[in-house]
Formats: sequence, C-alpha cells, structure tokens
Amino acid sequence: MGDYYIISILIAIVGYIYCSVGLKKLQNPKPEKPAATPNYQPLPISPPMTYYAPGADIFPEPPWTDNEPIERNGIIEQFLTDEMGIECEETEISHAPNTSVYHITLDDMKDISKLPKALKALKMRLKLDAVQAESEIADFSITIPRTDRQYVYLRDVMETIEFDRLADNPDAIPAVIGVDDNNEPVCIDLAKAPHFLVVGTTGSGKSVCVNSMLLSALARRTPDQLQVVFIDVKRTELTPYNGIPHLKTMTFAPFGGVGMEGAYRVKQVFTEPGDAETALQSVINTMESRYAEAQRLGVRALGAEHPHILVIIDEMADLLLSPVFGKSIENKIVRIAQLARAAKIHLVCCTQSPTAKVTTSLIRANLPARLAFKVSTPIESRIAFSKNGAEKLLGNGDGYLVMNGDKRIQAAYSDMEDVAALVEYYS
Ligand SMILES: Nc1ncnc2c1ncn2[C@@H]1O[C@H](COP(=O)(O)OP(=O)(O)OP(=O)(O)O)[C@@H](O)[C@H]1O
Ligand SMILES: [Mg+2]
Repeated sequence: MGDYYIISILIAIVGYIYCSVGLKKLQNPKPEKPAATPNYQPLPISPPMTYYAPGADIFPEPPWTDNEPIERNGIIEQFLTDEMGIECEETEISHAPNTSVYHITLDDMKDISKLPKALKALKMRLKLDAVQAESEIADFSITIPRTDRQYVYLRDVMETIEFDRLADNPDAIPAVIGVDDNNEPVCIDLAKAPHFLVVGTTGSGKSVCVNSMLLSALARRTPDQLQVVFIDVKRTELTPYNGIPHLKTMTFAPFGGVGMEGAYRVKQVFTEPGDAETALQSVINTMESRYAEAQRLGVRALGAEHPHILVIIDEMADLLLSPVFGKSIENKIVRIAQLARAAKIHLVCCTQSPTAKVTTSLIRANLPARLAFKVSTPIESRIAFSKNGAEKLLGNGDGYLVMNGDKRIQAAYSDMEDVAALVEYYS
C-alpha cells in the first residue's frame, strides 16, 4: 500500500514539472529558425504560351557601309622590288573584313633569304602592328590589316542562304559566327558542335561573338525547341536576357531545406557563384533523368519533346577561382562536358584567362572546340589554341574558329540594341 502511495506522489511531481515547462514554452515560444532567404522571387505558375520564332527581321537594319577596300594594289610589289631588291609579282589580292591578303610570286628563288628583313621593313613602312607571311616559298602571301576594317553585321549573316539552310533543319541549333577569310558566312550547328571554349583578352570580342551566336539561335528557335542556362558573374553580358521565355526554369531547394520543402522555382540569369553551382547541378540532374528515360525507352537519341539546353558561362575565371565553389563548379562543368551532348545539352564557356589555373587540362580536354580571339602572349595562344598565332590577331572579333581544323574568322557584330529587340519580341 505504502509503495502505491510513493509511486502516485512521484507521478504527480513529474506531471507537475512537465505541465509547467510546457506552459512556459507556450508562453515564450522558441523563436523560429529564419527561413533561408531566396535570392530570387518565386515564379507564379503561368499557363503555357505558344511562341513563334521571329527570324532576322526583328533586329535593327545594319547601317549601309561601303565595302570597297582602300586599294593598295601594287604597293607591296613596288616596295619589295624597288626598295628591297626582290624581283616579284603581285598575282592576286583578296580582302577579308579586316585584313587584305596579297599573293606574291618571286621571280628568283634565291631572293627568299631577303624576305624576313623585307617584311620587317614593310611593317615599319606601313606602320602596322602585324604583317604575316604565309609561307616562305616562291608563291607566298602577305596578310596585312586593313586600315578601313569593316563590321560584319549579325543581321546580314542571318540573311544568307547558308544560315537559312541550317536554321531550316529542325534538329539543328543554328548559330552565326561571322565570315571567313573569303567573306563567306560561317554558321555552325551548336547541336552537332563539340562544347566550346571561347578565349581572348579583355575587349577582344568574346561576348560580342557569343551574343551573335545566341541571338541568331534564339531568333530561330522557340522555347519548346531551345532552352538556355546563363551564368554571368560579371553581370553585364548576359543579364540583359532576363525576361526571355527560353531561360530554363530551375527548382532551387533552400539551403538546409529538407527534401523539396520550401523549394522555389527561378527563371533568371545566375550571377552568384553559389547559384551557378546549384544551376549546374540542376543541369546535371536533367542530364541524368534524360539518360534514364532514354535507357528505359531503349532509344539512343532523345526526341523533339526534349528541347536542346544551351549552357553559357561568361567569364569562367570568376567562378573557378571562387574559394568556396571553384572546385565543385569545375567538377560540374567537366561532368556536363563529358556526358551532356547525348542528352541534348551543350556548353559554351568564355574566359579572359588562358592560364593553366582556369583553363585546366581537364577543361581543355573536354571543351575541344575553340573560338580563339586575340591573346597577349604566344604561351597563352598555345594554351588557348594549341599553337602560336592567336597573339597576332587584331582584336575586335578577329579570331580563329577551331572545329575540324581551324579557320580565321571575323566575328559577326551585334550590340545591346539587338538583345533589346529580341527580349522585347518575346516578352
Ligand atoms: N565582331 C566585332 N566587330 C566589331 N567590333 C567588335 C567585335 N567584337 C568586339 N568588338 C568591339 O570590342 C568591344 C569589346 O568586345 P567584347 O565585349 O566582346 O569583349 P570581351 O572579349 O568580351 O571582353 P571582356 O573579357 O572584358 O568581357 C566591343 O564593345 C566592340 O566595340
Ligand atoms: Mg565579355
């Protein structure tokens, strides 16, 4: 009996303590952990829209330019013969937008030894930064920069048959690069091209060229056909595209969130390394789910129900040198580069820094296509372009396209007015 008495007193004491603590908790509830503040506004769920790709007409008409070059016919021959004592003949002259190529034939092969000195003198005489001689045999060519260099306007290249033919193929991602040495349009199918590394010093023309590629693709492809993921830590080059429907909608789970609780959807250009890392992970997730689907269906190629996804990173250095996210971002870029093409995901990465720290050997090996613009030194040229030569380019979009061999190109020019025209059309 006594035992029962003690036990019931103990139960009463424990009950009292439990209730009083509970009451206190109710009176002073513990402050809630603040929810991770998303950097981006959650998206409203809007009904699907039907879009039509507008084509080149939405871009402002390029200004009329007189394409006739300043003729320097005969001057090279005259200089070599009269001043350097080299008997030769100027057989042909061709003009690219920013260079002229003079084809010269020597009358006497033994004059070949005088050539290097003669080229140096010619460079001084014409006050040029660079004079390039193609080969030191009897027939050779001298390339000199044009003082009256021409702009190649995006819209003009978009209106060529070559671009139209590419864009009419529904499986392609048509992109304008510019023109080649013979003023022929250079357009590529990004869906078939290997992943791209775009390299060049500041102001050499990387962003202008990438914009021309993008604008030409977006003006011919609807969001059902092509989605884009833009990462721009500098916040200047790609942020003007905010608002286009092609931006891929991503689902971000807040930091520390459990599962998808509190997840929010974003459809913007990413400007922070942390968000870039999350966005790249989301691209990897899409890639993996596409692979799983293809395997389940037993097909090798994904159908039209899966849009192409184009991932563009402007200034990779800022991301890869980020102390917190750098390594993880590099791993993700490499993983996407290694696997994504079969999942209809394509990568274009730009950088000013062709240093081994940014363009690591893994990145170079997995992004084999190149757009090399002017770099500062031959060493940088070899990192960027596997050989010398990019240090002698003229800047302003003068570059090499490296894809099944290399080709000198002048990149097509586009500016913020063109971007604004595209954004306005689609929004
Ligand atoms: N294809 C082109 N035709 C004519 N001018 C060009 C072309 N590309 C670039 N330029 C000129 O060079 C300027 C700088 O080009 P761009 O912004 O593309 O350089 P960048 O390589 O992206 O430099 P950064 O690394 O600093 O971002 C342009 O504003 C333009 O005046
Ligand atoms: Mg740039």
